[in-house]
Amino acid sequence: MKILLLLQVSFITILVVFSNFTSGQCLEDQKALLIKFKNDLTFDSSVSTKLVMWDENSIDCCQWSGVSCDEEGHVLALELDDEAISGGIEKSSSLFHLRYLEKLNLAYYGLYLYPVPIPREIYKLANLMYLNLSHASFNGQIPMELSRLIKLEILDLSGGELKLERPDLKTLVGNLANLRELYLDRVNISLKGSEWCSALSSSLPQLRVLSMRDYFLADFTKLTILSVRLCYLFGPFPSKIFQDSKWQPTSDILSRFL
Ligand SMILES: *[C@@H]1O[C@H](CO)[C@@H](O)[C@H](O)[C@H]1NC(C)=O
Ligand SMILES: *[C@@H]1O[C@H](CO)[C@@H](O)[C@H](O)[C@H]1NC(C)=O
Repeated sequence: MKILLLLQVSFITILVVFSNFTSGQCLEDQKALLIKFKNDLTFDSSVSTKLVMWDENSIDCCQWSGVSCDEEGHVLALELDDEAISGGIEKSSSLFHLRYLEKLNLAYYGLYLYPVPIPREIYKLANLMYLNLSHASFNGQIPMELSRLIKLEILDLSGGELKLERPDLKTLVGNLANLRELYLDRVNISLKGSEWCSALSSSLPQLRVLSMRDYFLADFTKLTILSVRLCYLFGPFPSKIFQDSKWQPTSDILSRFL
């Protein structure tokens, strides 16, 4: 009897756990938006494993690969990384009508012949908490409109040929007080080191991960002074800096990092 009860309890537990991930049947308008989004996209169908499988005739779009919904059938997440999407998403304006979207991943490590800017309409996805455009086919200035996505907790813009001049880093993150992780590897940032440091520390109280690889330090082979006071940096210090630069940190400085 006891065993049966235990099994029942664990069965109920399993059901509860899974109900967080399973979703309601997709709503007609959400399905129509997804189909239009797909049809307007340029992607390599020989590489794609998710988009190619999206089938207008299969009723429940919440079951489509890369799509997750809430219980009412609104699309909450689109995980379309590695789908070889090229040529941007600016023609696929139906994406910006998926207003419930909380997670969008379009990352792709590929070669792009025609990179385009991040579309300004991105601000319409006001519920986004996770946005990953790393290595995607975007270039040029990061649009000001991105700073209106105030629910963002994780933002990955690394790897492309993006730059932050106008708006600069300070303006971009000014309203993004919920950001916990920010990845800007290879983004061309026009602010000086001391400026971005204070911009980040004053605007992003929740920040836990900051990645700016390939941005600054290791390329300054003449670097002799590195001041990171008041930056509240934690974690491993990039050893490449010591190899390439003339900077010889004292053991006192090092002990604060290692
Ligand atoms: C963004 O997506 C890429 C490809 O899937 C992944 O490697 C990377 O870790 C993601 N970034 C974040 C912050 O989740
Ligand atoms: C970064 O921006 C500066 C200033 O606009 C420019 O001179 C430099 O060439 C850019 N670097 C890259 C790698 O785009």
